[in-house]
Amino acid sequence: MSETKLIRIEDAADNVGRDVKIGCWLRVKRGSGKIVFLQLRDGTGFMQGVVVKQEVDADTFDIADHMRQETSFYAYGKINEDSRSKFGYELAVSKIEIVGESEDYPITPKEHGTDFLFDERHLYLRHQKPFATLRIRDEVIRAIYDFFYQEGFLKLDSPVLTDSAPEGTTELFPVKYFDKQAYLSQTGQLYAEAGAMAFGRVYDFGPTFRAEKSATRRHLTEFWMIDAEMAWMHQDQSLAVQERLIAYLIKRVLDNRQSELKMLGRDPEKLAAYINPPYPKLTYDEAVKILQKNGFDIDWGTDFGSPEETFLAKQFKTPFFITGFPKAIKAFYMKNFPGRDDIVVSADLLAPEGYGEIIGGSERNVDYQSLRQRIIDHKLDLDEYNWYLDLRKYGSVPHSGFGLGLERFIRFVTGEEHIREAIPFPRTLNRLKP
Ligand code: 4AD
Ligand code: MG
Repeated sequence: MSETKLIRIEDAADNVGRDVKIGCWLRVKRGSGKIVFLQLRDGTGFMQGVVVKQEVDADTFDIADHMRQETSFYAYGKINEDSRSKFGYELAVSKIEIVGESEDYPITPKEHGTDFLFDERHLYLRHQKPFATLRIRDEVIRAIYDFFYQEGFLKLDSPVLTDSAPEGTTELFPVKYFDKQAYLSQTGQLYAEAGAMAFGRVYDFGPTFRAEKSATRRHLTEFWMIDAEMAWMHQDQSLAVQERLIAYLIKRVLDNRQSELKMLGRDPEKLAAYINPPYPKLTYDEAVKILQKNGFDIDWGTDFGSPEETFLAKQFKTPFFITGFPKAIKAFYMKNFPGRDDIVVSADLLAPEGYGEIIGGSERNVDYQSLRQRIIDHKLDLDEYNWYLDLRKYGSVPHSGFGLGLERFIRFVTGEEHIREAIPFPRTLNRLKP
């Protein structure tokens, strides 16, 4: 007798009518007496198993009837199509083989507070919302690699341990590095710039760190960033790359993660409206005027917070750029705006619906003298930036780049209220565990 084929729930469609075996966990159980419905999950999907008393031996029915949440087991049976089930298929269970018992699983089917769920994140990962969100994250990660490959970029990894503070010194995580002080990287940008001078177009993609004391829905202390850097490229072309990237990533989610969007209650129609760039561009000057006209107490020169960004987003139906930020609130490496000494050639891309900034980027200052002066003005240690200044000393060329925050993007695409949902094990002001 041949052994029953072990399949995964995602392969149910190819196995309709067959006797199969599935390695799974029990989510919820209901019914009793004559029939037990087992809600199964195996990491690739969800499915209902039906155990009918008259059709199985007494032992099997008894096991099913007494099984507890998150028990792991092999379920044997026949796959049936089931149009009434939201998963489309059902397993008519004939036999159960318990593998790992589970007792007093803490995340019961009742409502739980978010803090509790994230204290139990190692278990909460097994549930539907993280399942859907993190599978979308996986799709986006693969799409990022595909996009940059198609666009002729080389992936060049930036270090995580550094001695520099490109985004300002107030948000650094110090690390003892033998007898020196090092920091966890805030962005790989400076290294990507070196890479662009060597390979033309490069990107990095890795964890970055900000010791931000802000407990908001959009701040993590550890998050994943994509830094892209392009030699021989001015800002307008860089914005076009950003538009193509965002449209491509959203489209990939729409093409390959429909059922996950559905599980999260995220309307695909809404997302579909965001895949046709170009996106609108608004100058910082204009943005301040709009805000002032609408009762915001904001002076030219201050940065936008969440309320300002949300209000501005209401003026547009798609992602949109804010360009030409004040020099004083931006990083030292940005190029001066031609003819204006108070703003830089920068742009933030804001997501619609109030999800806020997802990309920050700029054309870079490529002039040795003025860049050196900016480093001094920012009270940064020149010694640490000599290598970076070398890029302006030996064949400096116009170049531009940008950084996309992966979790910010995922939060927007999935329509999540809080950014912590968008990463497997979030690190925030108040959370380092599990
Ligand atoms: O705007 P930021 O600070 O820009 C840079 O770091 C540039 N060096 C990038 C570059 O030009 N290569 O950060 C880039 C993006 C933000 O737009 C946001 O999406 C994300 O990184 N980000 C955060 N995401 C989660 N938590 C935080 N605390 C974040 N800070 C920035
Ligand atoms: Mg920014």
